[in-house]
Amino acid sequence: MAETIELSARDKAGRYAELLPQLEALVAGEQDLIANLANLTAGLKQGIAAASWVGFYHLRRGELVLGPFQGKVACVRIALGRGVCGTAAAESRTLIVPDVEQFPGHIACDASSRSEIVVPVRDAEGNLVAVLDVDSTELGAFDETDAAALARVAALAGSLPGW
Ligand code: SME
Repeated sequence: MAETIELSARDKAGRYAELLPQLEALVAGEQDLIANLANLTAGLKQGIAAASWVGFYHLRRGELVLGPFQGKVACVRIALGRGVCGTAAAESRTLIVPDVEQFPGHIACDASSRSEIVVPVRDAEGNLVAVLDVDSTELGAFDETDAAALARVAALAGSLPGW
């Protein structure tokens, strides 16, 4: 297992291209879901320069519940359809929010958060099991490059044993 995340590219797509195989290596051969998700959030937080918060919210009995994350303490439960995470989960699609103040119902866990991306995580059967949430204190931090790369991370997370 890699001990550290090493990125040399300066552009975002290049950094994700370097980061993804390192994230795969982090979880390879380990069966414990919490350990793997915890390390994925740490790897993403280290690898995404603009990220102030990275974490999973797990779908549990029809609501989202906080899972492994990196960043400031956060809201524990989010109803489906509420906030960015609950909307992404309810609609089972990626949401890029360039300015959280413009998103109706945004849940301000961290008052300094300015933009956000939320990606659905589906298990091997295609069932929604979680969302991956990445926040930034910068406006407009996330774009389609993040969406494509985080979709691959979400696929990796969803393929892990233990959901
Ligand atoms: N802002 C999110 C809530 C979760 S935190 O950002 C960690 C939302 O509106 O769903």
